[in-house]
Amino acid sequence: MSDFEVKKQMDAMVKELNQHTYNYYVLAMPTIEDYEFDKKLDELVGLENKYPEFANPNSPTQKVGGDITKNFVSVQHKWPMLSLGNTYNEQDLRDFDERVRKAIGDDFEYVCELKFDGLSISLTYENGKLARAVTRGDGSKGDDVTNNIKTIHSIPHWVKEQNIPDTFEIRGEVFMHRAAFEKLNKEREEIGEVPYANPRNFAAGTVKMQDSKEVSKRPLDCFLYGLNSEKQLFKTHWESLENVKKWGFPVCEHTQISQNIDDILAFIAQWEEKRFKLSYDIDGIVIKVNNYAQQQELGFTAKSPRWAISYKYKAAEVETVLEKVTYQVGRTGAVTPVANLEPVLLAGTTVKRATLHNADEIKRLNLHEKDTVYVEKGGEIIPKIIKVNLDKRIANAKPIAYVTHCPECGSRLVRKEGEVAYYCLNEDGCPPQIVGKIQHFIGRKAMNIDGLGDETIENFYQKGLIANIGDLYTLHTKAQELKQIERFGEKSIENMLKGIEQSKQMPFEKVLFGLGIRYVGETVAKKLAKGVKTINNLANASLEELIAIDEIGIRIAESIKEYFSKTEHLAQIEFLKTEGLQFEIKENSIPLQSDKLNEKTFVISGVFEKHSREELKIIIEENGGKILSGISAKLNYLVAGDNMGPSKLEKATKLNIPLIDEDELMKMVE
Ligand code: IVH
Repeated sequence: MSDFEVKKQMDAMVKELNQHTYNYYVLAMPTIEDYEFDKKLDELVGLENKYPEFANPNSPTQKVGGDITKNFVSVQHKWPMLSLGNTYNEQDLRDFDERVRKAIGDDFEYVCELKFDGLSISLTYENGKLARAVTRGDGSKGDDVTNNIKTIHSIPHWVKEQNIPDTFEIRGEVFMHRAAFEKLNKEREEIGEVPYANPRNFAAGTVKMQDSKEVSKRPLDCFLYGLNSEKQLFKTHWESLENVKKWGFPVCEHTQISQNIDDILAFIAQWEEKRFKLSYDIDGIVIKVNNYAQQQELGFTAKSPRWAISYKYKAAEVETVLEKVTYQVGRTGAVTPVANLEPVLLAGTTVKRATLHNADEIKRLNLHEKDTVYVEKGGEIIPKIIKVNLDKRIANAKPIAYVTHCPECGSRLVRKEGEVAYYCLNEDGCPPQIVGKIQHFIGRKAMNIDGLGDETIENFYQKGLIANIGDLYTLHTKAQELKQIERFGEKSIENMLKGIEQSKQMPFEKVLFGLGIRYVGETVAKKLAKGVKTINNLANASLEELIAIDEIGIRIAESIKEYFSKTEHLAQIEFLKTEGLQFEIKENSIPLQSDKLNEKTFVISGVFEKHSREELKIIIEENGGKILSGISAKLNYLVAGDNMGPSKLEKATKLNIPLIDEDELMKMVE
């Protein structure tokens, strides 16, 4: 290769790796596997060592990665937030161990920790109070996301310990438990939002949200793994972990001291299997020299400490053959391609199918018929195809062509501008959409109809008993047909009909959610019900009027307008009205979010940091609590902000009424 070509190749690698870094850190949408990224980075390091004269100053080898989002205040880290060197095999680890021994001798120990797959966070406490929470950003500056981080229950807002430094910084990883991820991601899919690829991305996307109220609805968690302060309080990392645990910080229990590399290898081997039983994702193990003085002796490179390294697990991965691509049509008409695979054993389960997400993913993989593919599985998440083994591609294999028509009803598929999914628009004539909509309507969060389940709905539809939600309310006239259905005894029929009858009392916001209007999820339905009060007002509201409602944006407003522009929908609502369903909220009634504050009374006083008094009042009432006009013995809580009137405080103290702040109130309702 000529010098010119070498330089060109190195620059191209810098560009490519920087793009991947940007996708990972800023967009929270990774476009390359970690392992592949590290391999490419190693290659670049090799070239930079060989040709230092061509090294590009923008090279990712010179930066930690990451970037800063515009909409947060940027904060300089007191101690730069570096990254860790990655290893993937025993030899790399032995090399690391040798480097450490060369520098500090043989008298030391390691701490082994899990490597949590989330995003790193720096928490600064001043005089015991959580003053700032900052993302890693580019390593030297990050985003101030304090309000969002304060929604994480396990992170203390106050540390009330003697002997803690005036100022200290504690670092850790924010993540989302897999179960929460799967539940929330499914909800996103159900209301037509693009699902996140994994819990890490969901957590990263959440921490970067502008609205902390939204963040509080997405449960995040955190493990802390590092303490920094001007004056060193402890001699070892282990001692720090033990102490911060006592101060009230969440520290992972699966941490151990290791005397040598064999110990470490045993820890790694143990977690290679056991990691799938954890409730959260880890992508490796972190190994740290325990003693701080020895850490200092070892020091840092430009990017990472010399006293720590990570061992990354390769995702459980196997090769298999793509048999065919099939397409699922969801309730909203969104079409999802699914890879049907030759069955193969992967991380203890037989895999037959993998998600392909959308048409872009098929293109990205450049998937051809009968391709041999690599399938990967992380935790409980549905396996996915990571790449094709091109060496095994069959000669003249045809590329997978995305379906042009709905596999269920034959309508032409449409891709709306700005969306990744193709849609079947035949919502009232496409079987899985019809069945999906009825299933949604009877679901727990909507009408919660006892005695009816998804399978029964499917069955009733197949038998021609129902074709829309209105038909549920005519089932009582079809006793003869119902009796013919296998395994559906008299008692079941009675229960079901009773459940259907009772559903007529469900409040307006539940009915509204049950209608399945695109983008109208549970929360949006509550906001709309509160904002418009009646279905007629909703149907007649202009775009501007809709957008004026709290939390309703243009996308939701347009979807509502579209829904009510269809005469079939209006006719269905009219029918449901005649059946006695609730299409308005009772005057002065606030749709309940929960009954967590039932029978509890509150007085709100003072000025608050995160909410207005009016907002706090709504939160209390939405959760079943009552606001009292003054302090009396009947009062359960005084929600106290800054500058509260001294007489109120005195009276409350005399009556022994507990004072709570806005965070404590939020905890009570979450
Ligand atoms: S210690 C100098 N400990 O991994 C960096 N990091 O690849 C010290 N991570 O940015 C970090 N679990 O976000 C450390 N137990 C653990 C970790 C951990 C996950 C993340 C962290 C860091 C990245 C480095």
